[in-house]
Amino acid sequence: MIESPHDLGVHQVAALSARAAFVFLCLGLCWGAFTTTGWLHRLAGRQATRGSHVLFVTLALAFAVLHALAFLFMQDEYVGPADLIIPLRDGGISQALGVVTVEAMLALMISTAAQRFLRHRQWLWLHRLGYPVVALGVLHSFAGAMIDGHLAVLWLTGLVVLVPTALVVSLRFLPGRLWTGAGLLKEMER
Ligand code: HEM
Repeated sequence: MIESPHDLGVHQVAALSARAAFVFLCLGLCWGAFTTTGWLHRLAGRQATRGSHVLFVTLALAFAVLHALAFLFMQDEYVGPADLIIPLRDGGISQALGVVTVEAMLALMISTAAQRFLRHRQWLWLHRLGYPVVALGVLHSFAGAMIDGHLAVLWLTGLVVLVPTALVVSLRFLPGRLWTGAGLLKEMER
């Protein structure tokens, strides 16, 4: 339980940036799927779709880093830089999931910057790790909000962002036959 007004303020900044990171993480994943499948290309063009994907994941990482760094300013409860880098050092499973998510996001960004040193297939497989990484971030977000006692207020907004993201990801991976067979999508004539 946070008691001092100072720590409460710090925690609110951390929570606010965490919520922005969550939204941009989901948007980044959707736009990643749109870039691969080309679903938005006719509407927005390939360059703009790819650019939006990069923008969303960059914002997600920036807000996530801000969220994590904010904890360094807590006064009553000491959080050191090592606690933000080494999973399970001085926090629970929930915090460890957050640490791993940020580190994996950084690794994916670095691998993209160093793309020309990798074979395209290698990079693609690495980049696809983005899907489980977002799942870890989502798990951490729900667990973190529960620990903070904010889940009762946040769960609906969380689902409003999460459900369309899950739909885009399932449309990306499940075979089209499944959707047309269930009558959810119409087969296009060539
Ligand atoms: C170094 C990385 C991270 C650390 C150390 C960290 C730490 C924390 C801590 C300590 C909490 C409070 C609950 C608890 O004690 O577990 C929390 C909550 C939360 N975190 Fe993180 N986190 C990290 C990364 C992330 C990332 C990448 C996201 C993006 C999706 C995120 C989203 C959230 C959300 C949404 C909450 C709940 C905020 C609320 O109560 O409104 N965190 N995090």
